[in-house]
Amino acid sequence: MIYQLPPLPYAYDALEPYMSKKTLTVHHDKHHQAYTDGFNKALEQTPEPYKSMKPEEILQSLDKIPEPVRTALKNFGGGYVNHSFFWPLLKKNNGAVPQGDLAKAITSSFKSFDQFKIEFSDAAKKLFGSGWTWLVLDPKTGSLRIMNLPNQESPVSQGLKPLLVLDVWEHAYYLDYENRRAEFIEKWWAVVNWDMVAQHYQEVRKKSA
Ligand SMILES: [Fe+2]
Repeated sequence: MIYQLPPLPYAYDALEPYMSKKTLTVHHDKHHQAYTDGFNKALEQTPEPYKSMKPEEILQSLDKIPEPVRTALKNFGGGYVNHSFFWPLLKKNNGAVPQGDLAKAITSSFKSFDQFKIEFSDAAKKLFGSGWTWLVLDPKTGSLRIMNLPNQESPVSQGLKPLLVLDVWEHAYYLDYENRRAEFIEKWWAVVNWDMVAQHYQEVRKKSA
């Protein structure tokens, strides 16, 4: 199986002024492409049955895969999967907020939507070095949780179900915001695609039911 870079699901300038055309072009066409290429290369060394699994299933099975291919799959397979998950979660939202079941789940886990935003932004600001800030559903407790993971690690490797994610690697914001990560995080709230987050929430609830 050879994976292709999934096309960006909107125009490269669709998220201006929050994320520039230049940032999206480099981030998608160069960085995501490099993860895709590295993932395909790592798969050449991957033994069966893992080689034929879906990318997310490979990330769930990392602890059973021998080194050095395990680390290559964690880094490049993670980078491929995480960015593929990230792009559809971006859309100019004109100030929209979560609705329905998702809104209830956020309020139940974080007291209020505003409190959730504060906690998520704080986590993203505090993440040291490169990594991603995630909103996940823990199937064991049924509640939502914010977590930071370094580099290209994925919550699916821990049995958690991702709903929303923010890439806080410098490559996600440096061209637009230089070293001002906090400003990037603040602006990112304007491009969260809440319909997509709600869709993920319904899908994972169906699977956990
Ligand atoms: Fe990235």
